[in-house]
Amino acid sequence: MSAKPAPIYADNAATSFPKPREVIDTVSSVLGSMSLSPGRSAHQYSLECSRLIFDTREALADFFNCPDSSRIAFTCNVTEALNVGIFGLLGRVLHPGDHVITTALEHNSVMRPLRYLEKTSGISISILPVSGDGEVMVSELPRLMRDNTRLIVANHVSNVTGAVADIEAIGRNKGNAVFMVDAAQSAGVFPIDVVSMNIDMLAFTGHKSLLGPTGSGGFYLRQGLSLRPLKMGGTGSNSETEIQPDFMPDCHEAGTPNTLGIAGLGAGVGFVNRTGLAAIREHEQRLCRLFLESVGQIKEILVFGPAADRERAAVISLRVKGKSESEVAQSLDRDFHIMVRAGLHCAPGAHRTMGTFADGTVRFSFGFFNTEADVTACLTALEIISKN
Ligand code: ALA
Repeated sequence: MSAKPAPIYADNAATSFPKPREVIDTVSSVLGSMSLSPGRSAHQYSLECSRLIFDTREALADFFNCPDSSRIAFTCNVTEALNVGIFGLLGRVLHPGDHVITTALEHNSVMRPLRYLEKTSGISISILPVSGDGEVMVSELPRLMRDNTRLIVANHVSNVTGAVADIEAIGRNKGNAVFMVDAAQSAGVFPIDVVSMNIDMLAFTGHKSLLGPTGSGGFYLRQGLSLRPLKMGGTGSNSETEIQPDFMPDCHEAGTPNTLGIAGLGAGVGFVNRTGLAAIREHEQRLCRLFLESVGQIKEILVFGPAADRERAAVISLRVKGKSESEVAQSLDRDFHIMVRAGLHCAPGAHRTMGTFADGTVRFSFGFFNTEADVTACLTALEIISKN
């Protein structure tokens, strides 16, 4: 029996793997050396935890060019951050009858809260369409804007096709609406400057391209904008009152935080900074081009989304003619030890746009630690699967 080939992880859009050594070491040393409950007690361990959390907050503020690190709050993932953002605006910025604009490439972490508000609070929703290139048509924004457009939510990079939305142009044309960006797939690969891009709220996750552990994430909220907290409880501050603090970040950080995840996220951001965003993007783009150029030669394979020469992330959706998506993903895993994700990727709208609803696609997503040899092995496997 021939030995199973070494595993190839091509599911980085779900979560990045492997993590940098320093992330693993940080998580392990923090877990083994302190008590992990910051800001509650005045002892040494608690103070050290507070320092770790503060350092990660500062690192993220710097990373997104946020002028004041107290405008960064931690959550357990980007879904929670987007929920805080969308539901937290209700009654403050968003009122029954108001209008929201979003894009055809959103993840369910945006669409489900918005559809819920549409049903329960009389919010109306307009969708920015996607062009033939697979990119969000930001040029349509002025046509969709109304006097009562209070919120624009846009996915920076599609988790299905790797298409990049021109968030700078949305920020320029947002009028008085709150502009919320889902940076789940872009933070750690594409530059994000919340000031120059005119972003009011940026939701990010720690465990994808920021290379931290799962259970870490958060958001940036512009000064002057406030959200109704999703959770209330102990914050270690203002403990004399039974009223939730109204200042950032405490108002959104009730309960003992994920110190371990936040420390690991800080190490991930440190790795990204030292490696350089441009170097990371360049590496991933090279892998993406290599994959796209060669996969296009396999006549049984249909690729969706932007072409190789567009600015795009290394997230590629495809179908193999005559085979189901789950069959292809299972064969990649079982026969070639290649890990990908098949199906709808929690983004049914994106698949409707591409005409791949309801079966979805097979998605390859390459990360900084993938190599050209990994891409070649994926191509060889696809060639074999598509001919069999
Ligand atoms: N949203 C993540 C993905 O695209 C989990 O796989």
